[in-house]
Amino acid sequence: RTLHCHGTLASTNELAFRLAHEGAEHGEVVVAEQQTAGKGRRGRVWVSPPGLNLYFSAILRPELPPQHAPELTLVAAVALAETLREAGAEAAIKWPNDVQIDGRKVAGILTEMSAEPERVHFVVLGIGVNLNAQREHFPEELRAQATSLSLELGRPVPRASFAAALWLRLEEWLARHQEVGFGPVRRRWKELSCTLGQDVLVRTARLEFRGMAEDVDESGALLVRTPSGSIERVLAGDVEQVR
Ligand code: BTN
Repeated sequence: RTLHCHGTLASTNELAFRLAHEGAEHGEVVVAEQQTAGKGRRGRVWVSPPGLNLYFSAILRPELPPQHAPELTLVAAVALAETLREAGAEAAIKWPNDVQIDGRKVAGILTEMSAEPERVHFVVLGIGVNLNAQREHFPEELRAQATSLSLELGRPVPRASFAAALWLRLEEWLARHQEVGFGPVRRRWKELSCTLGQDVLVRTARLEFRGMAEDVDESGALLVRTPSGSIERVLAGDVEQVR
């Protein structure tokens, strides 16, 4: 199994994408000490200071029709939340794929894919985990909403063993997903979720509305009951808890 370890990269996702294009195999992983252009979802920046955190991108070549590929992000969220729980933190998943501890974001997932209508060429599963960052490593405007595993546990977190534990869980869940499909992933995701049962404000590219997050459907979309009683199916967007 090839592990590509780098000091400084613009983005581990970017390198993984290039390697995959050049023929890298399923399961090859890229990690870096720091990223100078770490990418978050929806065009955001992922703060990536050197030495402290985990910046991880796995190349996957799943045997899946492209329309099922988004499920892989939920597979990753489940593996990530379980790994953080195993480390002793009360991690929960905020739809679609933020992992939080006590309402603060500790990890994020950015999935990118290359596909034809009928066939997935490859998927890059990018995972960023704030392991040892301290308050001062987060920009002022993120301090209230971001945290690290070390801040939550009150001790340093060894990066290599966390990465190894995460990779084991990921392989386990990816195999289960490949063999029996999305059902078990969805059930586990729901157990680990802090979004379901909450009043939320939903923001998609097109609109913004409030409602009650009731369920995730068989393709990972969030089902939100609006005040008028209708159910909106949200495939991509952000949710914010409101009280
Ligand atoms: C998000 O929550 O917005 C997703 C954050 C994903 C960050 C990781 S860090 C490793 C990989 N490389 C990137 O440039 N982004 C992902």
